[in-house]
Amino acid sequence: MKLLFAFAALATTARAYWLMGIENFITTERLDPVVNPGRVSGHAHSVLGGSNFRAATNTSFLRQSDCTSVPIPQDKSAYWFPHLYFQWNNGSFTSLNGGAVICKQFESFDDSAHLTCLSDYLFSDKPGTTTAFPDDFRMISGDPTLRTYDPTSSAQRAITFLCLDFNGQSIRYPYLPTRSCPSGIRAEVNFPSCWDGKNTDSPDHKSHVAFLSGGPDSGTCSDPRFPKTLPRIFMEVYWGSQDFDKFRSQARNASQPFVFAHGDPTGYGYHADFINGWQPGVLQKAVDNCHCNPYGDPKCCADQGIFDLTSGKKCRITPSLNEQSKRLCPLLPLPSLLTTTVF
Ligand SMILES: *[C@@H]1O[C@H](CO)[C@@H](O)[C@H](O)[C@H]1NC(C)=O
Ligand SMILES: *[C@@H]1O[C@H](CO)[C@@H](O)[C@H](O)[C@H]1NC(C)=O
Ligand SMILES: *[C@@H]1O[C@H](CO)[C@@H](O)[C@H](O)[C@H]1NC(C)=O
Repeated sequence: MKLLFAFAALATTARAYWLMGIENFITTERLDPVVNPGRVSGHAHSVLGGSNFRAATNTSFLRQSDCTSVPIPQDKSAYWFPHLYFQWNNGSFTSLNGGAVICKQFESFDDSAHLTCLSDYLFSDKPGTTTAFPDDFRMISGDPTLRTYDPTSSAQRAITFLCLDFNGQSIRYPYLPTRSCPSGIRAEVNFPSCWDGKNTDSPDHKSHVAFLSGGPDSGTCSDPRFPKTLPRIFMEVYWGSQDFDKFRSQARNASQPFVFAHGDPTGYGYHADFINGWQPGVLQKAVDNCHCNPYGDPKCCADQGIFDLTSGKKCRITPSLNEQSKRLCPLLPLPSLLTTTVF
């Protein structure tokens, strides 16, 4: 998969950061170990991170992954999001090519077009102010059922789409752009970064965490119910939508021909999930010590021996569900329970 890099526009509270280019999705399949543990999920997700992504997984199992698609081998966390498809006027779907980068970020910087981030980690410059994710921490940002927009909702403002134009101006929308994007579409999710300090999960996988006081990307953890500041994950996934511009006239909807796996042509229901799989202690050391430079280069963490940096590492898993790839497409009948063992 081809990767393009562009710097993300990020607000000013988080100071230090790093960026990690992701080589590939480790798999695309109908699994969601947060929402549907041990079962088949209703829609297909593409997955980044540790190879022990399964229908059910957790921190200790992820840590035992043979590989990770993230260039920091100490990060075997799982990150996943719905896959994107082009819908033809006969109703068929074709999968888009995508790519991603993980950025752990703690310094603000301006948009300058050339990075596809998958998860940026953003955190404060001050050592001791950011708490690394605890074991078995998991969360979701976004709501797959939404098809409308409430601009007063931090949770909805956490979902954005950058219509990329590397030779012009890239424009950010709260919905899937209804025009062609010359250099592709970057789907972006901010995760909540304030934590109740106690629960590693909650029934809706959201209420143990909260967004910053100023919205998804600015402010502080001022709500006393969510006093702990976590690294802020900003996941950006690049989709090569421009490959389909020549087919727009054959699309079911020429003005916005793309559909997410959860059956969503609007983008308002875009979402992403995270399960912590960091090796013990590494992320805490990193947020306390890796204030490298304002450009998201994680090299100073590597120079300090906090984590390694590898590049070009291929990490893929064999899909645990035996189904044809076209069944991954959206709007298909819900699957039955997973009966085969996937471990
Ligand atoms: C973690 O997940 C693995 C794989 O699903 C499972 O075998 C193990 O029992 C789980 N551990 C805990 C503590 O839940
Ligand atoms: C729908 O149209 C596309 C593009 O012409 C074609 O590739 C695909 O096979 C068609 N699907 C069906 C079910 O006819
Ligand atoms: C086509 O997409 C546009 C833009 O999202 C939307 O406003 C319109 O309702 C869609 N048309 C149909 C027939 O779904």
